[in-house]
Amino acid sequence: MDLRTTYLGLRLDHPIVASASPLSREFDGIRRLEDAGAAAVVMPSIYQEEIEAEDEAFVTLVERGSLAQPEATDYFPGSTMAVGGLESRVETLRRASEACEIPIIASLNGSTPAGWVEFAHELETAGAAAIELNLYRVPTDPAVSGETVEERWLETVRTVRAAVKLPLAVKLGPWLSSPAHFAAKLVEAGADGLVLFNRFYEPDIDLETLMPKPDLELSHPYEIRQALLWIALLARRTTASLAATSGVDSHEEVVKYLLGGADVVMTTSSLLRRGPKHVGALRQGLEAWMAGRGFDAIDDVRGRLAASRLAHPEAYVRAQYIQILTGYGGALS
Ligand SMILES: Cc1cc2nc3c(=O)[nH]c(=O)nc-3n(C[C@H](O)[C@H](O)[C@H](O)COP(=O)(O)O)c2cc1C
Repeated sequence: MDLRTTYLGLRLDHPIVASASPLSREFDGIRRLEDAGAAAVVMPSIYQEEIEAEDEAFVTLVERGSLAQPEATDYFPGSTMAVGGLESRVETLRRASEACEIPIIASLNGSTPAGWVEFAHELETAGAAAIELNLYRVPTDPAVSGETVEERWLETVRTVRAAVKLPLAVKLGPWLSSPAHFAAKLVEAGADGLVLFNRFYEPDIDLETLMPKPDLELSHPYEIRQALLWIALLARRTTASLAATSGVDSHEEVVKYLLGGADVVMTTSSLLRRGPKHVGALRQGLEAWMAGRGFDAIDDVRGRLAASRLAHPEAYVRAQYIQILTGYGGALS
């Protein structure tokens, strides 16, 4: 069975990719994901704040005089490499890229265009196969309009695009007034791929302590719907590769995302819940489903239910509320 797919111009054996998570933070974890059969691995994000903090620490060192001698700076090949944490993250990327046969994708998290984006170049030099730019940010300032936020994101994408030659994917959240328009703008700004969607952290409230309660819940299959909708609406209407992320637990979610038009399907929660070997189960489930339906190649499945291929694409956007509700019988009478 031919499961091969192309994502961001990268040829992959099949479409199941391990998305950014602590599982891929260390070299051994990445290796385990490769051994388990992941087609590619995304490393956890390096945050704008981390890069800026290390830059600041470096500047402080320089200003204090410890690096005031020009020859002293020769010991430090780049400012962001000088002060600690990031160096080991980049080293892990370098080792994994050399040792693994699958593509290792580096992730950057930030949302304002500034000096930190040049760090993307260090990831490129360390051997990343692509960069995933995670635009995760909750805009809370009422003085900043949605338009301004989006323009900053686009400028960030342009700046990263200018810093590297690597394929660039952008991971974004779903809450936009016009996702299809913004997707087109991201492509114009230099995105080669779109990762739909970021799953935002939503804390609970603790009724005992009367405090916000930190609570990171892993996802459930019903959470595929939002990304599935937009994958199906965008597939074949954008030149960008499409990656689906959120809600994969079994092969069924993988199949649905592929039918909608995803080039790859990413998973984190299922691997945290069941272990990296679950990648194998997802792949086997996909193969069994395809065999049962008489499909030999992923190309026969992918995009089969993209809106652009449906006789009635409005099925994706208009709920037939009354028809659906009549299914609930007594509730309406
Ligand atoms: C513990 C944890 C850490 C994560 N870290 C990152 C990260 O560093 N960067 C990122 O882009 N996404 C991160 N994510 C989000 C996942 O990559 C993924 O997009 C999200 O969990 C939805 O996919 P899922 O339903 O398969 O879990 C993280 C998710 C979890 C649960």
